[in-house]
Amino acid sequence: MKKKIGIVSLVTVLLLVIYCVTTYKLMNSRTYQVFGEIVPRVETTQKVVALTFDDGPTEYTDELLKELDDAGVKATFFLIGNEIEKHPDEAKKLVQAGHEVGNHTYSHNRMVFKSPSYISTEIEKTDALLRDAGVQGEILFRPPNGKKLLYLPYYLSQHERKTIMWDVEPDSFDDIASRADKIVDYTVQHVQPGSIILLHAMYDSRQESRKAVPGIISALKAQGYEFKTVSELQNISTKP
Ligand code: NI
Repeated sequence: MKKKIGIVSLVTVLLLVIYCVTTYKLMNSRTYQVFGEIVPRVETTQKVVALTFDDGPTEYTDELLKELDDAGVKATFFLIGNEIEKHPDEAKKLVQAGHEVGNHTYSHNRMVFKSPSYISTEIEKTDALLRDAGVQGEILFRPPNGKKLLYLPYYLSQHERKTIMWDVEPDSFDDIASRADKIVDYTVQHVQPGSIILLHAMYDSRQESRKAVPGIISALKAQGYEFKTVSELQNISTKP
């Protein structure tokens, strides 16, 4: 009898471990989700990339806008709803300058283990703020910290929206994020045709990321790369 209980609890623990590992992998995967389409990059042989910025808008918007304008590059910004409320003019400036502006939820909480109504409100409230800022047409969506499990991808697929991820994230590693030249080098080393580059440049602590933007653009242009918004990049995709 005792032996039987031992085996049962062993199997339970094993199943629990498998469940946790699967959940963790699913939550963090940049290339797989259960519902709808996830886009970490696009398939193409053309030398095209998308530069994307997460979070904000903040008072650093002008600095970024100037860098991009000087380089003649249109980028894609995923903005947080409650930050748009704090900086509505900054959100408008991004739209007016012709950059693509997408949804990064209202509160930037992880959209896992949350109720369906919480998740849909987070997205829809931010969509409304983006419309107020002047965003027209399809609104792209990127989950905070790239985290998603079941309901978020389900909601997006029901609304015919994709989960926009990335395949190059130079400033997500502390040792690289601490120096602009390292951010540039990492990006150049990891970019391939169709890449989506993720940068965080909206906050005070991200000075090195802001400093890296002109370097990333000129180094990739020197290699023959053209910069596109995420929507433009998707239209170039050669995926059948
Ligand atoms: Ni974020």
